[in-house]
Amino acid sequence: MEEFICERRSTVSYRDGDIFRKYYKYAGESEIVLEEKFSNEALNNGINCPQFLGWGYSETKKMFFSEFEFIEIKTISKYLVDKSILKIALEQLTMMPTYTQGNDFRNELLEKELYSIIDYLPSDIQSEYVYLVKELFLKKNDVLIHGDYSFENIGWDDKKNTLIIFDFQNSGYGVRDWDRSYLLASIPNTYLVSTISDINIDLMKIITALKYGRGIRKKFELEERKRLYEYWWK
Ligand SMILES: Nc1ncnc2c1ncn2[C@@H]1O[C@H](COP(=O)(O)OP(=O)(O)OP(=O)(O)O)[C@@H](O)[C@H]1O
Ligand SMILES: [Mg+2]
Repeated sequence: MEEFICERRSTVSYRDGDIFRKYYKYAGESEIVLEEKFSNEALNNGINCPQFLGWGYSETKKMFFSEFEFIEIKTISKYLVDKSILKIALEQLTMMPTYTQGNDFRNELLEKELYSIIDYLPSDIQSEYVYLVKELFLKKNDVLIHGDYSFENIGWDDKKNTLIIFDFQNSGYGVRDWDRSYLLASIPNTYLVSTISDINIDLMKIITALKYGRGIRKKFELEERKRLYEYWWK
């Protein structure tokens, strides 16, 4: 029997015994097949993530669904994260597979999104932002990207005593530092982030601006996102 777990912007999730079942309000077959492919690739490369079991269409709910092994996942607050947890989260990314030729599927969507927020940004940074985004898309897209690598999709797996990564709905191929920078840009504690070495400043600028632009558009976390954006663009 299905037990309700949570409802999010685009999904509704349930537990059914040992199965975690996620129903998609908008996504169809092609998106779910990609989620399956990318989560399998991550798992096969040693990243701790739930095993994808299958997918289908529910006639009663009129929604596509995917199934994963059910895992007890403890949430980690981005406000309380410490250096040791952050280090494990960054280390997981070093296991992401690389490709000589990744396709550009994810980048077409990302490029649109990156340009769509320009009008929300202060006019004095717009030209540098456009320059940085252009440079980004000249780079090779040769590593698997989670695409939403933040503590919303990283939890604690008590059984394995390590972090667990889930939700490969925004995955694809991209540049090496993308997930790393995305995670760092999602942490409100800038002191903690400043203790991390080899930060890609250009990506921090792009991503904090993107998140700030999205924040204005959705009227969400505005103050925090503005502070982080200003920190990297100062
Ligand atoms: N295999 C699993 N077993 C148990 N719980 C899970 C599992 N995978 C995810 N969860 C829990 O369900 C929640 C929702 O899952 P997930 O992050 O995959 O989708 P989502 O964030 O709702 O999708 P969207 O980003 O489209 O809104 C997660 O926050 C997590 O706590
Ligand atoms: Mg999620």
